[in-house]
Amino acid sequence: MSDAVRTILQADGVAVKEPTRDDAGFLWDFWYPAARSTEIRGKRLVTAMLLEVPLVLGRTAEGKAFAMRDSCPHRGIPLSYGHFDGQTVECSYHGWRFDACTARCVEIPSLTSQDKLKVERVFAGHYPCEERDGYVWVYMNAVGTRLPETVPAAPALPVFSKKYKITHLACELPSHVDQGIIGLMDPAHGPFVHQSWFWRSKHSIHEKQKQFEPIPYGFRMSPHSPSSNSAPYQLLKRITGEGVTTTIDFVLPNMRLEEIHSGKMWFSSRATVTPVRRDLCRIDFVAAWNLPFLPVFLFRMFGKTFLRQDQETMIKQAEGLKHDPKLMLIDDADRPAKWYFGLKANLLESRRTGAGMVHPMTGPVTLRWRS
Ligand code: FES
Ligand SMILES: [Fe+2]
Repeated sequence: MSDAVRTILQADGVAVKEPTRDDAGFLWDFWYPAARSTEIRGKRLVTAMLLEVPLVLGRTAEGKAFAMRDSCPHRGIPLSYGHFDGQTVECSYHGWRFDACTARCVEIPSLTSQDKLKVERVFAGHYPCEERDGYVWVYMNAVGTRLPETVPAAPALPVFSKKYKITHLACELPSHVDQGIIGLMDPAHGPFVHQSWFWRSKHSIHEKQKQFEPIPYGFRMSPHSPSSNSAPYQLLKRITGEGVTTTIDFVLPNMRLEEIHSGKMWFSSRATVTPVRRDLCRIDFVAAWNLPFLPVFLFRMFGKTFLRQDQETMIKQAEGLKHDPKLMLIDDADRPAKWYFGLKANLLESRRTGAGMVHPMTGPVTLRWRS
């Protein structure tokens, strides 16, 4: 059972949600990207933080990435201050050594032949760790819970040909992950935040209508022809001479996937918003494509501009959110945000009760907004 929300019965029999450590609003028991693969090399120990858990990451001599809690189980000093020989991490304080992949203690140097302590029964905290698409992913199971019998595979970016270009971008937002996510799926800020000559101007704002459908743990903006007021799509159409279709998915805990297809040309991207602390999250954006006219440097230039625009906006928003204002979600433009909160609440509820998860959408829905 998840301890995310513990329900207690008050004397009068009214069930209330008791806020726990998890009123930080994190979703445990999912994979999150902790670092880029390229950062983890040689015998370096690298620190990261996910869901307020300090982690130490490294790579064994065989090349396997690992993730341990960055805290020695003896006296709590970060293990990242220790020494890594390619196999075991040695704590800098009293030299206890831990196998990097299992976190099992293999040596306590102070023990004498008289000591009865079973060294192999001592473990540092550790988490499943896999590499995909150039990221080191860590499966964050909740504190005090066991790992599921089979941990699901880490997410992989869909690609549609053997050869393709791929690039990664990241930016930090001084916000709770929920704000980061609803910012990511918000259709109405485009004309105001992302105005630029190469994309679109505020004056091109017009009414839109998009079909959405429920998918497991999320929702999909059904395949459609993308907005005619965006220059890159027009270019793609002109080159392939075929129609362009876009599909956008949001999937819990934090993932927006977009696929664009036109003939044999494709573009695929994934943005994840990862909670670092309750007041800090990070967008990791990876995109792959086989469009011959789109060099990586050019895409990065556009991508960085977009991310910077979002980041600057969220820095300003964080200023306002410090004073804990009441907020509004309006129809239809904020309906995806409502679905996100609904999905999250229903997932926590189903984990708590063990019953199946209820989807907040009952079927396909058409949303209308101007952007
Ligand atoms: S604190 Fe790590 S060995 Fe003592
Ligand atoms: Fe944006």
